[in-house]
Amino acid sequence: MAHKGFTLWFTGLSGSGKSTISERVAHRLQKSGIPVEVLDGDIVRTHLSKGLGFSREDRDENIKRVGFVCQLLTRNGVPNIASVISPYRAARDYNRQKIKDFVEVYVSCPVEICAQRDVKGLYKKAQAGEIKGFTGVDDPYEEPLNPEVTCHTDKESIDECVEKVLQKLQTMGYVG
Ligand code: ADX
Repeated sequence: MAHKGFTLWFTGLSGSGKSTISERVAHRLQKSGIPVEVLDGDIVRTHLSKGLGFSREDRDENIKRVGFVCQLLTRNGVPNIASVISPYRAARDYNRQKIKDFVEVYVSCPVEICAQRDVKGLYKKAQAGEIKGFTGVDDPYEEPLNPEVTCHTDKESIDECVEKVLQKLQTMGYVG
């Protein structure tokens, strides 16, 4: 299938569904013969961003590093997916400006529901004060103002979200 380089940037709270949706989208693209690299926050933080914490400064640094790799891939025609909380609008917009072929997917879900899901048990720890500065609990998340796609994972199924994203890539002319 024909394709161009692009960055699909998933942003949203921990537990909102970013990784699940982005993995499924990547799988669907790969099945269509489109090569795609995925940079997921949890993995990036064990390699590229090892040692960085969760202060605003460290998060901004993390997001810049991920954006830098996405930019290199995109300009060489390699589709790529970033799946990181990226809570600060300025850092996301910085990458949008640098990369240009940037498709922002806001994975929206009320924090109460993310905390109920609590896949990693981190909300419980944050609420108990064992983790400080947890996004959505005692650290900010700035919603995107004009994302290309918004997935409401409290109301839409994962399949619906995946279809929405793939559809947008098609209408934007990134995949044939
Ligand atoms: S970001 O803010 O710099 O974009 P990133 O997506 O890389 O974050 O990493 C988020 C993951 O780190 C979460 O899914 C969670 O597993 C873990 N984590 C650990 N501490 C925190 C924290 N204080 N706030 C948010 N996530 C945290």
